[in-house]
Amino acid sequence: MCITFDPTLTSGCGFHSTRYINSFLSHADCWSVVNLFLRAAEVEAKQTQPSIMLAPQANRVMAVGEWEERWDDGRTGFHQPQVHKMLELNIDKVLAGRPGVRFFFPLCGKAVDMKWLADRGHSVVGVEISEKAIKQFFEENNLAYSEEPVPSIPGAKVYKSSEKNICLYQCDLYKFSSSIEGQFGAIWDRGSLVAINPRDREKYAALLTSLMAQDCRYLLDTLLYNPDLYPGPPFLVPDEQVHSLFGPSCDVELLQSVDAMTERHRSWNIDYLTENVFLVTLKKSSSF
Ligand SMILES: C[S@@+](CC[C@H](N)C(=O)[O-])C[C@H]1O[C@@H](n2cnc3c(N)ncnc32)[C@H](O)[C@@H]1O
Repeated sequence: MCITFDPTLTSGCGFHSTRYINSFLSHADCWSVVNLFLRAAEVEAKQTQPSIMLAPQANRVMAVGEWEERWDDGRTGFHQPQVHKMLELNIDKVLAGRPGVRFFFPLCGKAVDMKWLADRGHSVVGVEISEKAIKQFFEENNLAYSEEPVPSIPGAKVYKSSEKNICLYQCDLYKFSSSIEGQFGAIWDRGSLVAINPRDREKYAALLTSLMAQDCRYLLDTLLYNPDLYPGPPFLVPDEQVHSLFGPSCDVELLQSVDAMTERHRSWNIDYLTENVFLVTLKKSSSF
């Protein structure tokens, strides 16, 4: 519907392109319509200008200690007891026919996806700050494990499954690098780019691209919602920012975009939640 404001009109509230509206809209109704259109214009401006969208969360910082507290208190509503639907739906695109792929899980939590992939003959390296999450992963999946220090990362430990090819590093992600485990053939990024502090995104993208082998297929899961209504985490990551972060060195393809609203999300008081899944691959000429 197109409504324009005509100050020359004296009746109603001055909308004229659908002049007959004036005949049955009261002044109060008209201002509701005005507010509706102003809101629509605001949403449209935000969607076309990511910097406006990002502003409410730009300075949000969650210290790693706060994440550890969440694990200690059991405030881990992000954990899913079943394999993530987006990984299952897109696994063929990630594997691209390759057997025995080395997967990297940034900010892995205790995602059951790691065991699911290991059961299919792939290997997994994850990084997680919470020791509790790592121990719960092995214990809940009935996997025996060993624990050893990582000499190149002071204070870090690596937990290795004795029977499955799964190694989980307990350390701050930004202390991890390709010098520790080399590069990877695939990355599953769920609850990771959306969980790191928004101001660290460039640093994060540089680290992730440095961990990509030339044939790496990086599946990236992001969320879109109105950041005025919920402070995060998870934080909003606009599509434009995915392109600006990874586009210089990678091809970025949107594979899926779905309505992800559930009862849990309704309690965040948001009015919509879209989940987007991207496939990120190094450009052929990239020197990363
Ligand atoms: C939203 S959760 C997602 C976990 C997992 N990817 C999943 O899908 O269930 C984010 C995880 O990152 C961990 N984390 C946050 N900041 C971190 C950092 N800088 N280094 C390592 N782990 C971190 C938290 O402890 C938490 O388990």
